Amino acid sequence: MQVKNICCIGAGYVGGPTMAVIALKCPHINVTVVDANPEKIKAWNGPLEQLPVYEPGLAEVVKEARRRNLFFSDDISGNIEKAEMIFMAVNTPTKTEGEGAGMAADLRYIEACALDIAKYSKSDKIVIEKSTLPVRTAEKIKEILISEGSGVHFEILSNPEFLAEGTAIQDLFKSDRVLIGGDETESGQNAVQALVDIYANWIPKEKILTTNVWSSELAKLASNAMLAQRISSINSLSSLCEITGANIEELSKAIGMDHRIGPKFLKASVGFGGSCFQKDILNLVYLCKYYGLEEVADYWHQVIKINDYQKNRFAQKIIDHFGGDLTGKKITVLGWAFKENTNDSRESPAIYVAEKLFKAGAILEIYDPMVSKESIFRNIDFYWGSSKKGDLKSQISVIDSVSKLDLSNDAVAILTQWEAFKSLDYLKTVVFDGRGVLSSSRYSIGRG
Ligand code: NAD
Ligand code: UGA
Repeated sequence: MQVKNICCIGAGYVGGPTMAVIALKCPHINVTVVDANPEKIKAWNGPLEQLPVYEPGLAEVVKEARRRNLFFSDDISGNIEKAEMIFMAVNTPTKTEGEGAGMAADLRYIEACALDIAKYSKSDKIVIEKSTLPVRTAEKIKEILISEGSGVHFEILSNPEFLAEGTAIQDLFKSDRVLIGGDETESGQNAVQALVDIYANWIPKEKILTTNVWSSELAKLASNAMLAQRISSINSLSSLCEITGANIEELSKAIGMDHRIGPKFLKASVGFGGSCFQKDILNLVYLCKYYGLEEVADYWHQVIKINDYQKNRFAQKIIDHFGGDLTGKKITVLGWAFKENTNDSRESPAIYVAEKLFKAGAILEIYDPMVSKESIFRNIDFYWGSSKKGDLKSQISVIDSVSKLDLSNDAVAILTQWEAFKSLDYLKTVVFDGRGVLSSSRYSIGRG
């Protein structure tokens, strides 16, 4: 099949960058990204410095592709109708109510996409799951498309995204692999080939892996679970290091030099954050329970429990340092994003650590180079629940420039590993570094 028009539903952290790269690499295809949020579409069409997603290299890609074959639009129906291939890149958060609340993936946005596709399609379409979904979701999507559609043929593929925020463009240019799951029928395989042909414009063929739909859906959840598992493993050992005098960075290096283990994802931290690891593992745990695999569910749930333990342990270290009470103590919080080089703060460990410090009475001065004051207060409002009832105005301030930071406060907590924080002059400050190296001699900890 000759694909001339692609439509992507969802202009977020995945839809925006992935489609920008497809448009850049496939100048012969028109790529239109649509979203239910018109403000977001406006921002994607606006000045390059104010795109809704901050990613190194993204603005350059958008600049070039937007001049040619990349479009952002709020005309969902028209663009569905026009496209031969439709990506669904909408959010799939953890359910907050109903069956599976707190664990299962909330599929309402995916279902809404499927309904729209069924409603507005007047010709055959290839429909692609780009969002991260529970295994066997394609079955549900097919049901919706068939029951609500007007007789056109839909082929459903799974093509999960593996980019990491902060390195999204580099990851998309040089993916470790592109995974495409499709039906083993002739039309299924034709659809797989149509998508392979798109990626083959810049991804070497041997890196494009085709599987059945269920393997592809599950491989995405499993990949995130295994990455997070490595972080929880090293973080669990950081507490043992602190008691025994072993050094966690030395330990990581020694373990990672075994080529069978490898050095990546062994950096101890204040815990992993981001919108995906926790929700995807919870989803995996839910699926295991659903299929009666209690032991498997418990095994993966432990990855989350260690992560919660690590965030809590870090905040408690700071509180204990001041004798259990932070009333009146001024603490500089460096970093709010869930990792460096992104403006995304969803599920950031900083939110949880700051909450605990705040509850213990601390006066917080927060600074992040990319997360705005509005986003920080939105996060506090969303995540802190009843604990935000303290005096937010007098206890929390957000600094908008590194030059305004007061490093003579009672303590500094480094919660995101931004490069800019490495060269600050901490000489007279008590520094708690979220790299799990609380007793490092790099800073004058305890000698403030
Ligand atoms: P996001 O929240 O940044 O973006 C989702 C967008 O979809 C939003 O702009 C929302 O307005 C839009 N949307 C929701 N329902 C819609 C509908 N019915 N019609 C039109 N627009 C709709 O989410 P994201 O971070 O881009 O993640 C999307 C999916 O990709 C998730 O399943 C996530 O797990 C997966 N994923 C994310 C990353 C990442 O780094 N963020 C990486 C790999 C996979
Ligand atoms: C992660 C995966 O790396 C991507 O492959 C996947 O596509 C994506 O989730 C997703 O499905 O959303 P992301 O969350 O953007 O990407 O970023 P990571 O680099 O994986 O970092 C996640 C968290 O782990 C961050 O809080 C980071 O600071 C932490 N981390 C990472 C550590 O604590 N130690 C490490 O060694 C590595």
